[in-house]
Amino acid sequence: MMDVKEVLNWYIDAGVDVICGDELMSANVLDVPANVEKPVADVSQMGMAARKNARQLCEKAHSLAELAQYVESFDGCQLKATAKRTVFGDGDEKAKILLVGEAPGADEDREGKPFVGKSGMLLNKMLASVGIERKNCYITNILMWRPPGNRTPTGAEVAVSLPFLKRKIELIDPKVIVALGAPAANALMNIEEPISKIRGKWLEYELSVGKKIDLLPTFHPAYLLRNPAQKAKSWADLLKVKKKLSNS
Ligand code: URA
Repeated sequence: MMDVKEVLNWYIDAGVDVICGDELMSANVLDVPANVEKPVADVSQMGMAARKNARQLCEKAHSLAELAQYVESFDGCQLKATAKRTVFGDGDEKAKILLVGEAPGADEDREGKPFVGKSGMLLNKMLASVGIERKNCYITNILMWRPPGNRTPTGAEVAVSLPFLKRKIELIDPKVIVALGAPAANALMNIEEPISKIRGKWLEYELSVGKKIDLLPTFHPAYLLRNPAQKAKSWADLLKVKKKLSNS
């Protein structure tokens, strides 16, 4: 029999933050004691409160600098407690190209900037290969804090981070968003697709005001480090981004 805390942590790690019915669906499977229902409801409410708080802070921010200050005051994401630094974002605040990754790794956590490790070096080279300078882009991640041991972020962690990412997009107002990997594309588009299905296809990200921004999913540089034969496809994707910008 798992104890209540273990069960709750199991749910949180699995991204469960909403209760859809009166009964815990997996109670039988897990042999969960009946008294776990109330604490799960509390955790769910904490998640909802954190997201509400995130949205409220975002509404108050009228510049990236203000948003960064609100992020510093925000304690609704448990990852902040284990991360060394907040990795807010880096680059030109008026960039035409916004690149979005998943989460900071160890190097980013140490330096407080996104994509500064091996993946970042490859990203820089790939951008340069099509004549795009990193300093002219804005780069950020879905999450602003490193998940311990680089584990996959939970649904709750993504959900509480999304309002901040969406506000960044509104404030930067880029012409094109490049989603690096499936997690970034899926979180922004609210879909669940493998990267093999959506890579290289233009999608439309809709801002809350109804405006649409072209979004191109491509491979994450970490994937390319493991599968260098796929680099040509990413290169073709970045050429598409260049073409889109020159036509706009
Ligand atoms: N991987 C990401 O998704 N983001 C980073 O900032 C670094 C590695």
